[in-house]
Amino acid sequence: MDKFVIHGGHRLLGEIEVSGAKNAAVALIPAVLLCDEPCILENVPNISDVTISLRILYEMGAQVEYLNKTTVRINATGLQNYCVPYESARKMRASYYFLGALLGRYGKARVSMPGGCPLGDRPIDQHLKAFSALDAKCSIEHGMVDLVADQLTGSQIYLDVVSVGATMNAMLAAVRATGLTVIENAAKEPHIVDLANFLNSMGADIMGAGTDVIKIRGVSHLHGAVYSVIPDQIEAGTFMIAAAATGGDVLVKNIIPKHLEPISSKMRKIGVNIEEFDDSIRIWVDGPLVRTNVKTMPHPGFPTDMQPQITTLLTLAEGTSIITEGVWEQRFCYVDELRRMGADISVDGKVAVVEGVGRLTGAPVKACDLRAGAALIIAGLAARGITEIEDIYHIERGYSNLDAKLREVGADIEKVSDPVAKVEMKEAM
Ligand code: EPZ
Repeated sequence: MDKFVIHGGHRLLGEIEVSGAKNAAVALIPAVLLCDEPCILENVPNISDVTISLRILYEMGAQVEYLNKTTVRINATGLQNYCVPYESARKMRASYYFLGALLGRYGKARVSMPGGCPLGDRPIDQHLKAFSALDAKCSIEHGMVDLVADQLTGSQIYLDVVSVGATMNAMLAAVRATGLTVIENAAKEPHIVDLANFLNSMGADIMGAGTDVIKIRGVSHLHGAVYSVIPDQIEAGTFMIAAAATGGDVLVKNIIPKHLEPISSKMRKIGVNIEEFDDSIRIWVDGPLVRTNVKTMPHPGFPTDMQPQITTLLTLAEGTSIITEGVWEQRFCYVDELRRMGADISVDGKVAVVEGVGRLTGAPVKACDLRAGAALIIAGLAARGITEIEDIYHIERGYSNLDAKLREVGADIEKVSDPVAKVEMKEAM
């Protein structure tokens, strides 16, 4: 199995560039199915979730061509297939976006139940509620979700739970439905707005994305577009935390400051200095880190995908911090691994109590999911001694060239491949 080997204790100093947003790209790629002409997506991150999404389109008959490392041209106009290959789909959480896109294009879709990281219960009832509201018939048989609709008809959709995936899927299914669809209690994450902007650039009629009410007037045709994926707010936040945890001074580039406000304000409370520019943000530390409490919430609350990272930072702060996971049932799988490095954390259900220890020590640890793996990298960078992180395929699903980017700012991190063990890509998020 590949692993990361980190010699900790080096301050991160210099400039680091953020790639395109994973959780936007995995929705924009299926959205191309709704278009009657080729599309070009720019600033696409080089991560395995994107590779799987593009492979699904290719296996279904689309033409997929990389014009350069981060720009891909997709022509799905010749597609006659509404079934997503089982093996590819179940490797990734975001394969469920093919449900909304295929339903919107063909009036039918057949996709495996999504895989998913061990974050606790991950139902798709709100996705199915949205599809049913648009007059689709939904069934689940043999691990596959089957959708069929004679005619998708706009409707009122009230989401019982603020769900990123269900909001995205409702938009994908509604853009070519007949009439007006109103999604209430919609998620407001930046990647929701990015999908709406991409669809509108193809000629869709979507208003209100980024608020909790999104209105979609169905259109019969979507034309081609050239569109750039927004920068990844979670990758940016991960670099910000890494800079703070190592007592460094880093300029994080290619960001949208507004998307980082929940993260920046929490880090300032911990005693981290932050200076915002138009498309970059500087992080430096010139004093002790102090405790604070964190509760993760849907945007614009503190993002759950930054919870493992900020918890790691707080293990280095003076005092007692309380972290409440407000979105997922189980998102503390990494705590046992941090304990191996000297962290003092107790977990009771959705609440973790962190006693700052001031210093961590390197140890052999395992990534249990994408953001847990990122947190272990941060811990290894800050720790005294050597940290070896196994199961890094989790990390590589959401971070492109992470070790190379960190070396650019002074980290001593290497990826070590073990040619003996056969690397199996397990279920992705
Ligand atoms: C997306 O997952 C992200 N994944 C997750 O990021 C992120 O943690 C999550 O949104 C919240 O921001 C992708 O975009 C691929 P939800 P998603 O639907 O859409 C419940 C990462 O690290 N729910 O917003 O699956 C659900 O159980 C990953 O990049 C229902 O009850 O999340 C959860 O408690 C991890 N019924 C809450 O809503 C449903 O039908 C939020 O889930 C759907 C969701």
